[in-house]
Amino acid sequence: MSVFSGLKLKSMKLIRVLLLAVVLCFGNLAFAGEGMWLPQLLKALNEGDMQTMGMKLTAEQVYSVNEGSLKDAIVHFGGFCTSEVISPEGLLLTNHHCGYGQIQSHSTIEDNYLKKGFWAATKADEKANPGLFARFIERIDDVSEIILKGVNDDMSPSEVQSIVDKNINAYMSDNQGSQYEEWMVRPFFNGNQYFAFKTVTYPDVRLVGAPPENIGKFGADTDNWVWPRHTGDFSLFRIYAGTDNQPAEYSADNQPFVPKHYLPISMDGVSEGDFTMVFGFPGRTNQYLPSQAVRQIVEINDPAKIEIRDVALKIMDKYMRADEKVRLQYSSKFARIANYWKKWIGEKTGLEKTNAVAKKQDLEEEFTKRVKVDSKLWGQYGHLMKKFGEKYAAIERYSFTKDYYDEVVRRNVEIMTVASVLDRMVSRFENNGEAGYNDFKPRVAGYLENHFKNYNANIDQEVFIALSDLYRDNVDREYCPTTFSVTAKSLEVALTDIFQRSAFKDQDKLKAIFEMTPEDAVKALKGDPIYILFSDWKGVYDEKVAGPYSEIKAEIDLLQKRYMRGLIDAFPEKTFWPDANSTMRVTYGKVQGYEPRDAVYYKPVTHFDGVVEKYIPDDYEFDLDEKLLDLYRSKDYGPYADATGSVPVCFIGTNHTTGGNSGSPAIDAEGNLIGLNFDRAWEGTMSDINYDPSICRNIMVDIRYVLFVVDKYAGASHLIEEMTLVHPKTK
Ligand code: ARG
Ligand code: GLU
Repeated sequence: MSVFSGLKLKSMKLIRVLLLAVVLCFGNLAFAGEGMWLPQLLKALNEGDMQTMGMKLTAEQVYSVNEGSLKDAIVHFGGFCTSEVISPEGLLLTNHHCGYGQIQSHSTIEDNYLKKGFWAATKADEKANPGLFARFIERIDDVSEIILKGVNDDMSPSEVQSIVDKNINAYMSDNQGSQYEEWMVRPFFNGNQYFAFKTVTYPDVRLVGAPPENIGKFGADTDNWVWPRHTGDFSLFRIYAGTDNQPAEYSADNQPFVPKHYLPISMDGVSEGDFTMVFGFPGRTNQYLPSQAVRQIVEINDPAKIEIRDVALKIMDKYMRADEKVRLQYSSKFARIANYWKKWIGEKTGLEKTNAVAKKQDLEEEFTKRVKVDSKLWGQYGHLMKKFGEKYAAIERYSFTKDYYDEVVRRNVEIMTVASVLDRMVSRFENNGEAGYNDFKPRVAGYLENHFKNYNANIDQEVFIALSDLYRDNVDREYCPTTFSVTAKSLEVALTDIFQRSAFKDQDKLKAIFEMTPEDAVKALKGDPIYILFSDWKGVYDEKVAGPYSEIKAEIDLLQKRYMRGLIDAFPEKTFWPDANSTMRVTYGKVQGYEPRDAVYYKPVTHFDGVVEKYIPDDYEFDLDEKLLDLYRSKDYGPYADATGSVPVCFIGTNHTTGGNSGSPAIDAEGNLIGLNFDRAWEGTMSDINYDPSICRNIMVDIRYVLFVVDKYAGASHLIEEMTLVHPKTK
């Protein structure tokens, strides 16, 4: 071999290594599990990959317009969660935390279904839920050409928006369905593509069963976002339809809905390495942000939001631990605030640990390199990185202040929320006179009635003062209300006085105001010290922050749209998936453990023994009742135990999921239900921004734990009889 050919060989090897590196960083990773795919495109994009990973179905069996397919069993639950049909009589399975509001609404002090659980003995006992709906997707069509007609690259954000809006409106008026049928048009790839979804909505959805919280919410906030997990996070509902099986408002004559497809249930479970897919309605991801945006999230936005909620949660926790009544009043609020607080901490840590910013920079460098060598690409995308840099630098202070304002004024100080509702009432009066005011009044009264049921003014005052202090310390002085232009010490005195003198913390005082004539009431509201502070705060924010923020944001959105198209053009070897946007998606992966830290490996399945291991008598998060403990002592597990002799409780996989995937079915290689998605593992919550197959895991309840609770714990075997149980592994 000559020296020359040796060199050539070496350099060819180098090229191959480099190519592999590119594929590893940016390419299609067969086993990675990244991606939330559109069901109608599985055939073109994913079928081969899915089958290589173990799927035994065809893409047509997953999604078909003409034949019954898996998608016909997948239901958008109230628009905020996912659920699935699991019997020929319209039985629906979703999470306990998805049905929480309904379970709570049927509860009374004597019959507290959150505490005791609820099981309808017969269909007549199933409970109606006004406002709740079950929505199916009939078909999905690409309407990009129609919606983007007339749009070009030289237009401003507002010009593009107005053409798109006009086209969508025209499309909708051409495609009007019946009362319960609707076409929804949604943007994909940041507005480069549009799809229309034909939906059918059933408005009669009844509560069938729910375990008590010590099963459905076992581990509560301590275990939230955490693996290993032992929560039976499920509840059961049923869709009802008119006698013609068509959607109908609630009526005693309605019948259980007969679905086009329902999921058979596998009794054989999963082992590490098995194929899984999760079907559902993921809410929002941001997988294609430039490095500047990710840096801002890690360094600016997440830390700000975490710090604010940290302060609020500590105050709430102190009061909740001291007083059982307060604990009950604040547990749902606390859970809501703690949920994303904990997620952001996980997200920030994960983005740092996986070097997300550096990875994005590498991608951008490669992007620029590819664009530079092609004059056409350079013309379209050459300016993007510089522009992103300018716009993100410009938006930073506004987006920081926006997060502060949202967290303090809109989310965590309750008296400010009251002020904003009462402010709307004042506007009604000022714009529409007494009629407008009187029209709005019952809604406000209803809101206040609800609010004061679970309100503690001492907590709120402390949160109000602490968060205002934080705002004053961290937000540019020019964006603060004038009240804050004093020393920290005098601010505290001033705020205490404002809070103490306000009627907005006091239900009786507000009631008295509502008894006045509209004119006097509005005068009293506007004179309230909290109202005055709120108007000042909102005024400064609207004028100096909200305006510039949305202007720059619209420009960034248009750059992002261009960048998305640029990525697709510059990386033709890669298959892209569009960011989640609450539309129906399929994600697939494998059952797999992970290494959260050096020398620690988490196995992928937990068992009932682990539930009892975590048991802390009388603890509000980890208590268990005698009935469940008895089942543990007698080992009365029926057919629900696995080879270990215990009942599997939860398992994890590499399926790429996000908020909105709660209640999504986990489906095996043959289309059977094996579990119910409800969470992600903490170390991998950055998957919304930077999916990393080494640590991103979704958490599912094993379906056998669900069946065990329904059958052995609740004795609701009539529900099991409705279902179709199968044995795909032991046929
Ligand atoms: N973390 C899950 C999800 O993101 C469950 C939330 C409900 N549970 C809770 N303890 N807050 O939404
Ligand atoms: N618990 C989340 C939900 O309510 C799902 C977990 C996640 O964000 O992945 O949708």
